[in-house]
Amino acid sequence: MLSYLKKQLKQLLKHYQREQSAKELKSQAPHVSQQQLTQQLQALGVQAGDSIFLHSSLKSLGYVEGGPAAVIAALQTAVGPEGNILLPTYYLPGGTIDNTCKLTDYCFDLRIHGTHMGRLPEAFLATSGVQRSLHPTHSVSVWGKDARFLTEAHHKAPSVFGEGSPWQRFATLPQAKVLGLGISMGPVTFYHLLEDTMGEQFPLPVWQPECLLRCIDDQDKVWQVPVRPYDKTLAAMRIDHPSRGDLQQYMKDELIACGLLEQGPVGAASCWLIGAQDFYQQLEKLAGDGITIYATPEQLQQRPVGH
Ligand SMILES: CC(C)(COP(=O)(O)OP(=O)(O)OC[C@H]1O[C@@H](n2cnc3c(N)ncnc32)[C@H](O)[C@@H]1OP(=O)(O)O)[C@@H](O)C(=O)NCCC(=O)NCCS
Repeated sequence: MLSYLKKQLKQLLKHYQREQSAKELKSQAPHVSQQQLTQQLQALGVQAGDSIFLHSSLKSLGYVEGGPAAVIAALQTAVGPEGNILLPTYYLPGGTIDNTCKLTDYCFDLRIHGTHMGRLPEAFLATSGVQRSLHPTHSVSVWGKDARFLTEAHHKAPSVFGEGSPWQRFATLPQAKVLGLGISMGPVTFYHLLEDTMGEQFPLPVWQPECLLRCIDDQDKVWQVPVRPYDKTLAAMRIDHPSRGDLQQYMKDELIACGLLEQGPVGAASCWLIGAQDFYQQLEKLAGDGITIYATPEQLQQRPVGH
């Protein structure tokens, strides 16, 4: 009873805080409409038939009239009926893969588990026609023509981001692009496709031993899914760590110097877009030159961008 009340109170507080923060933004930030968002996404390079893997900060866009649903609708209009939109709807009850592996009672259930990845992914889960991959830590949600193909095999994939995963399948689509709305080059899951594809050939031993986590599908069948926590020391120096602004900037400069990264405004945010195949090939080339998403400042100094 007490824990039920505590949970209710927490939810009420969260709801109140969200209302307050949206109100503040509404009165202080520049407003942007769904139609403006569509036009700006198109100006950035989003085209009909594109498959877009989106990482986002909603707040960075300014105040979006219509909220997160308007951002999703703007993207849907830009990619059209032949396109796909993929969002990270990861659920990590332990906060990290490592800590989630320690939750022995945990079983991921699409019917009850939401996402910890922010407001847009949350809203995307409630969007009509969206399909979600069955995965205990890195469930991906997809709207569009290839939603089934992109999501159907994740729980059977031998690694989280490699063969059979939404990232590997996404990278096979002809107009696959990764889009960052108001975010740095840090929180971009696509980087991990290279690690899982290269496996032992990846320049660094980035993984701890594999653990098995459970998922339950809509037929109530339980699946044991292998996941690999990251080495803690390496994870603390990875490109998505707040301390690695240098590496985020290096990656951005590198991709711009190679003519691969498009940049432009969407709402009030600085945004970027890159073709997935080009991105992958550049990451592969960088790894060959000794630069990975774990590169030290000294390694970055030794290899100037656009080398
Ligand atoms: C962490 C992160 C999500 C934070 O960004 P954020 O904009 O603060 O958070 P969200 O996208 O969840 O949006 C929530 C904010 O939207 C704001 N908001 C509410 N209504 C809004 C509206 N109509 N228009 C614009 N913003 C609105 C709220 O103010 C809220 O801010 P608050 O948290 O201060 O209350 C972002 O920086 C990030 O890293 N995104 C990538 C995440 C990801 O894909 N990770 C996987 C790769 S590792």
